[in-house]
Amino acid sequence: MTPQGMVVLISGGGTNLQAIIDGVESGAISQPIAAVISNKADAKGLARASRAGIPAVILDHTAFGDRAHYDAALAELIHRFDPKLVVLAGFMRILSADFVAQFEGRMINIHPALLPEFKGLHTHERAIAEGATRHGATVHFVTAALDDGPNIIQATLSVTSSDTPDTLATRVLALEHQIFPMAIEWFLQNNICMKDNRCYLNGLCLDANGYHLENGTP
Ligand code: GRF
Repeated sequence: MTPQGMVVLISGGGTNLQAIIDGVESGAISQPIAAVISNKADAKGLARASRAGIPAVILDHTAFGDRAHYDAALAELIHRFDPKLVVLAGFMRILSADFVAQFEGRMINIHPALLPEFKGLHTHERAIAEGATRHGATVHFVTAALDDGPNIIQATLSVTSSDTPDTLATRVLALEHQIFPMAIEWFLQNNICMKDNRCYLNGLCLDANGYHLENGTP
């Protein structure tokens, strides 16, 4: 059988997962979520999956001796669902190169900053501390280097003098919920692919920033 649908990996609240579930339910996303996998038993996103009738699986990383064993078990679990796309929706783990190689070109991540700026954690705090005037969110293909694969979509906003890390987090999250379902559907419809470490949209190589939305508008 041809791989179908998605497996979504989470670690926390799962608001991006919810945006994807809503996209599937509204028809904006054309293929189903085959399973949601969390590395944390208390991830609130698990309840969102169950409410939507999606298999929700906990694969607790603390039960494994090292990253290699965990990643091998995670890969095996994902393969069981034979997805077309693997979606990292707030999955807070560094992935080993062996794991990434198994899904390269069909695994995407959402990051709360304009990559390559502010890789890693605490992006909103760092944006404020550095006096950034523009900030946003990025969907990108996952490669072995952290937060480094080719960008698919970026949505930007202007940082105002009254913004705090919390207000930025809220404003950026709203953009995330907009661009993640878009990128997912592009992939499922074969509109995007990763080639030579760049993203192609409908056969055209995007620039390094990816497709661009300003305040949520193309
Ligand atoms: C999002 O900000 C995402 O960009 C980051 O982790 C957060 C997850 O939020 N990778 P949620 O669990 O989807 O609400």
